[in-house]
Amino acid sequence: MRRPTLRLLTFSPCGGTAEVNRALARDVDAELLVQDCTRAGMQEATIACRPDDLVFLAFPVYGGRMPRNIDMVFRHIEGNGARCALVAVYGNREFEGALLDLFAAAVNRGFRPAAAVAAIAQHPLAPQVAAGRPDAEDREKLAAFGVRIAEAMRAGALLEKAPGAYPEWKLPKGASLFPVTDREKCVACGQCVSVCPARAIPADDLAATDTETCIVCAACAKYCPTGARQMGTPESRQKLAHHLETAASRRKELELWLGEAPR
Ligand SMILES: Cc1cc2nc3c(=O)[nH]c(=O)nc-3n(C[C@H](O)[C@H](O)[C@H](O)COP(=O)(O)O)c2cc1C
Ligand code: SF4
Ligand code: SF4
Repeated sequence: MRRPTLRLLTFSPCGGTAEVNRALARDVDAELLVQDCTRAGMQEATIACRPDDLVFLAFPVYGGRMPRNIDMVFRHIEGNGARCALVAVYGNREFEGALLDLFAAAVNRGFRPAAAVAAIAQHPLAPQVAAGRPDAEDREKLAAFGVRIAEAMRAGALLEKAPGAYPEWKLPKGASLFPVTDREKCVACGQCVSVCPARAIPADDLAATDTETCIVCAACAKYCPTGARQMGTPESRQKLAHHLETAASRRKELELWLGEAPR
């Protein structure tokens, strides 16, 4: 019998979501195919899954929802009936309606969700929040989840609905955390343009940001080699850090929901 293929389809601007997805796949007995859909150029290639593929779809949580460019990321991905695990990675506050969004987006592209996972990774807008996660304990748990998910998928499990509930509030678009660039420090290397998943940095003005398309993912600030790009002002970053100190202070644990297999 042909060994199944496990596809890791990941959207991970700052790398935490990708770490979680790799940890989930660690002990699964399958041919591993890692398909990164983060950077804008990577979203252009068609990814056509086979019906018998196992797929782990991992995205970060933004404001208790999926990133608002999720349909752009998915537009060239064809599920073709493959079973998938929905993986929402959040910064230790809450995941709220993110798995509901991911369920709808995956079904819309022809996937059959079989499991859902909520996991935790460092918060890119307040790096002291969930620092060091996923840690060694998380990795062991994720690897065990991955094996259980693959078994359930092979047994034909299907998830009827995703866990979670939509938040009552809405993330103010960008709030005050859109990137700002110190033109004095910018060396015009173009690194921010190449890591931006939303094509929000015009190639002819590297210090600018198109706030209509920016998803506030923080990748440009993280990978800027000179520190010229920062998310918001020091005051707005401090305000968020202060808010998260209470809202995300208690350590959250990983969660797994498995669908039912037919009897
Ligand atoms: C714009 C934005 C909004 C976020 N909203 C939430 C949230 O509502 N709840 C939460 O717990 N974490 C939130 N986070 C934290 C991320 O979901 C989490 O740290 C994730 O792992 C980041 O993924 P990445 O490292 O793959 O980019 C947010 C991060 C960003 C950049
Ligand atoms: S990554 Fe930083 S230094 Fe390089 S072009 Fe962008 S803002 Fe300028
Ligand atoms: S410009 Fe916006 S979308 Fe692009 S990398 Fe920076 S924060 Fe992310």
